Amino acid sequence: MRYKKVPVKKIVNKIIDECDVILLVLDARDPETTRNRELEEKIKKMNKELIYVLNKADLVPKEVLEKWEEKLENAVFVSAKHRMGTKILRDKIKEHLKKNNIKEGKVGVVGYPNVGKSSIINALTGKRSALTGSLAGLTKGEQWIRLTKNIKLLDTPGVLEMKDEDELIISGALRLEKAENLISPALKVLRRLHDFDKTIISNYYGVEVDEIDGELLKKIGKKLKYLKKGNEVDLDRTARSIIKDFQDGKLNYYNVRIKKYGQERRRNIEFI
Ligand code: G4P
Repeated sequence: MRYKKVPVKKIVNKIIDECDVILLVLDARDPETTRNRELEEKIKKMNKELIYVLNKADLVPKEVLEKWEEKLENAVFVSAKHRMGTKILRDKIKEHLKKNNIKEGKVGVVGYPNVGKSSIINALTGKRSALTGSLAGLTKGEQWIRLTKNIKLLDTPGVLEMKDEDELIISGALRLEKAENLISPALKVLRRLHDFDKTIISNYYGVEVDEIDGELLKKIGKKLKYLKKGNEVDLDRTARSIIKDFQDGKLNYYNVRIKKYGQERRRNIEFI
């Protein structure tokens, strides 16, 4: 099995030791799953500023983002891919540094694989060149990039270790085509949504939900008319479709039906 990136635990520790502001990048489609409570506690204990950066907000309906905004303290919505929300993020960093009278603030980015850490660093830095010479204590190759007169950003993100293969599949870090088993991550998605709100699955698929198990997958597959020869339900196709809809933000925590795509949805985050 191939992972896209090798976790570099060391950098996570360096970032929380050395930085004043830590951007914990979450996937806006699934912020709870991409949080890391242990790390959050540690950051808070060290009296550092923790900002939740909910990236890929372009894939999430505005109504859903608003719910997360109510739930999460100190959250900023961003679409690194479309370079949206980065000004708000920059302003939030500036505000913290000003309030705490920090003359030269250091900012670091951490998060699970595939949430968009590198994209956020690129969106924040644009074409700025790195400062010459790395700061002491950092591995060769990592550099600080100046965002403003008072802000330096570490150009290498801290990668948190993903718990297991299912999580990598759900988050998109492991492509669906490369995954061997889609049933287990699909059931995980369904279970998570169901724990959050018991009406989501029945509303989305029009099926009755008793247990979150293979039988439910069959019911959903039948509804979707994903049948193989002999009228047997194609469970793999059904599982793929569930994960895909979740990744696309269509099947979401807040039971919101998305009718429009592309430009329309992208505009959503401007309102937050
Ligand atoms: P990482 O450093 O946290 O591992 O994430 P990275 O920036 O490499 O981004 C992971 C994938 O998520 C990339 O897709 C990237 O394009 C996509 N992505 C990042 N930010 C956003 C965003 O705001 N919105 C959307 N919709 N996607 C985003 P990929 O398929 O791996 O690469 P690519 O084909 O897009 O280049």
